[in-house]
Amino acid sequence: MARAIYETRGIVQAADSVFWIGACDREADKFEGLWDLPHGMAYNSYLIKAEKTVLIDTVKSAYMDDFFLRLNQILGGLPLDYAVINHVEPDHSGALELLRRLYPDVKLVGSAKTADMLKNFYGVDGGFVTVKEGESLDLGGRRLSFVMAPMVHWPESMASYDETNGILFSNDIFGGFGATEGGIFDDEADLSTVETEMMRYYVSIVGRFSKQAVKVLEKVRKLDVSMICPSHGPIWRRSPERAIGLYEKWSRQETEEGVVVVYGSMYGNTKSASDAIARSLSLEGISPVRVYDAARSNMSFITTDIWKYRGLVLSCCTYNMEAFPPIAALLRMLENKNMTGRFIGLCGTYSWAPAALKEMKAFVEKSEGGWKLVDPTIEIKSRPSRDDIEACEQLGKNMAKAIRG
Ligand SMILES: Cc1cc2nc3c(=O)[nH]c(=O)nc-3n(C[C@H](O)[C@H](O)[C@H](O)COP(=O)(O)O)c2cc1C
Ligand SMILES: [Fe+2]
Ligand SMILES: [Fe+2]
Repeated sequence: MARAIYETRGIVQAADSVFWIGACDREADKFEGLWDLPHGMAYNSYLIKAEKTVLIDTVKSAYMDDFFLRLNQILGGLPLDYAVINHVEPDHSGALELLRRLYPDVKLVGSAKTADMLKNFYGVDGGFVTVKEGESLDLGGRRLSFVMAPMVHWPESMASYDETNGILFSNDIFGGFGATEGGIFDDEADLSTVETEMMRYYVSIVGRFSKQAVKVLEKVRKLDVSMICPSHGPIWRRSPERAIGLYEKWSRQETEEGVVVVYGSMYGNTKSASDAIARSLSLEGISPVRVYDAARSNMSFITTDIWKYRGLVLSCCTYNMEAFPPIAALLRMLENKNMTGRFIGLCGTYSWAPAALKEMKAFVEKSEGGWKLVDPTIEIKSRPSRDDIEACEQLGKNMAKAIRG
């Protein structure tokens, strides 16, 4: 009976004495000010009501109202003993300041680096319990232990593990974009949307730190995980194994057959070169071939497909003595992500003083083998000639061979 009342207030019982009290954001159009949110965003927070009461993370400040109503209702007058801060990024710590005013005796729990960050973000000085790798907190008949996740994706990041029930409160790890759409659990949600948005989240937020993610996933493999409660995306109760497997694949940068063609074009000449390359790839039987206009698609969609597929072709015009700005920004982002094990083809255009191809070549050289260059590199003056189009077709053929290599 009690459970029915909880659910009418937007509280969902996730497991024995574990409640989801998160928030759904369908108002923000960007996450971290950068990444499109076509399906919104969820900020998950959990309350463990054992002998001790423990809050796991909070929500973004704009969504505090519901969060506090739910917290207050479940506590039902009990004190809040602990608030575990797995990660200080404000999408999870946004309600902390008010939480400490409403529950002045709450002890904050986190890593040594969390203590330092909380001082600078929220003036927290004292009332903090520092935990290290493998240490645990006694909740009375239940133990919560801690898995450090440095640089996945902040230095203080960690996950919490309910040893008694095998529940991993993984914070950003296993997270994804997308608000809950009725379904809170993996078995209730539309998994194809969930997994697509989870990969775009992985690439956008965690991608650069894939080496560190591999290490954390090795530690997760040693735990007996029955359920994953992340701080974004659904709760994985039917198939936590699926979430772990996906994150393992992405963090190891395993790629699939397919080519992404991205162009930056003002008047269509660079675009027509990239269309010729895409057509050639298709004639070679490559599928999928994904074509993007760098100035029009949010970069997160482009980088996610680049992460997924083995081949990339960039076509870029020269703009004021430099590469066209959206492609220059993409190059910078790809460099930031330390991508490796993929093939790249290049095509630059210009009319009087070429710069685009040179910049793209410099990007490939700087990657020190991370990106393997496929011939021919093409440079087109103003408008593609018959020879230029033939070179584009050859690039498509060579790329197809390389990615199947
Ligand atoms: C605003 C603007 C700036 C340009 N700057 C340069 C430049 O610095 N050097 C150059 O060789 N060509 C420059 N170009 C010429 C284009 O790079 C060239 O015409 C190219 O073929 C355009 O490709 P598109 O038709 O795909 O836009 C510029 C063109 C425009 C419109
Ligand atoms: Fe984060
Ligand atoms: Fe987050």
